Amino acid sequence: MLSIIVAVAENNVIGGDNTLLWHIPEDLKRFKAITSGNTIVMGRKTFESLPGVLPNRKHVIITRDKSYTVDNENVEVIHSLSKVINKYKNSSETAFIIGGGEIYAQLIHNVDKLFLTKVFKSFDGDTSFPQIDSEEFSVDFESEIFTCEKSGLKYQFVDLVRK
Ligand SMILES: NC(=O)c1ccc[n+]([C@@H]2O[C@H](COP(=O)([O-])OP(=O)(O)OC[C@H]3O[C@@H](n4cnc5c(N)ncnc54)[C@H](OP(=O)(O)O)[C@@H]3O)[C@@H](O)[C@H]2O)c1
Repeated sequence: MLSIIVAVAENNVIGGDNTLLWHIPEDLKRFKAITSGNTIVMGRKTFESLPGVLPNRKHVIITRDKSYTVDNENVEVIHSLSKVINKYKNSSETAFIIGGGEIYAQLIHNVDKLFLTKVFKSFDGDTSFPQIDSEEFSVDFESEIFTCEKSGLKYQFVDLVRK
């Protein structure tokens, strides 16, 4: 099974200058809880935006650069998205697509579930989440709206599933 996990601003922005534009510790905790012990799939740019290889998760990094290597036993570098789709789409093992914009846009039509964090503010950025088609997904879960103690940002967890 393929799932997407993403935090999206009100104007669909998800990042800028290859970094996140907000800091919501509770969202990072949820990201860790959902993805730990599982496979995470990401574009090369998102991988390079991370502090390093995240513990307790198998990383699949997508790049067109055939010479790109990461010397870590928990990292696999691949060069085509079809490899991800073929391996996980009909598997009982879940792989979480964790970004970024290019990878979300190319895989959104192949995922069964989206774990969204909606951030109730617009941000200036250079990377956006693709438009979600309401014909394709329905709401499976909506949390209450929380306020981040640290940033004051309002946010909500919303899970969507393929209809
Ligand atoms: N808010 C969130 O939840 C969230 C989550 C993740 C990321 N982000 C943000 O998103 C931004 C990064 O996103 P991005 O769109 O710039 O980059 P990205 O999707 O992370 O990575 C793009 C790279 O992936 C590789 N790639 C893309 N399509 C490919 C294909 N079909 N086959 C092989 N390789 C392919 C290419 O790598 P090469 O150039 O090496 O060939 C491309 O440059 C950052 O600002 C990050 O902070 C936000």
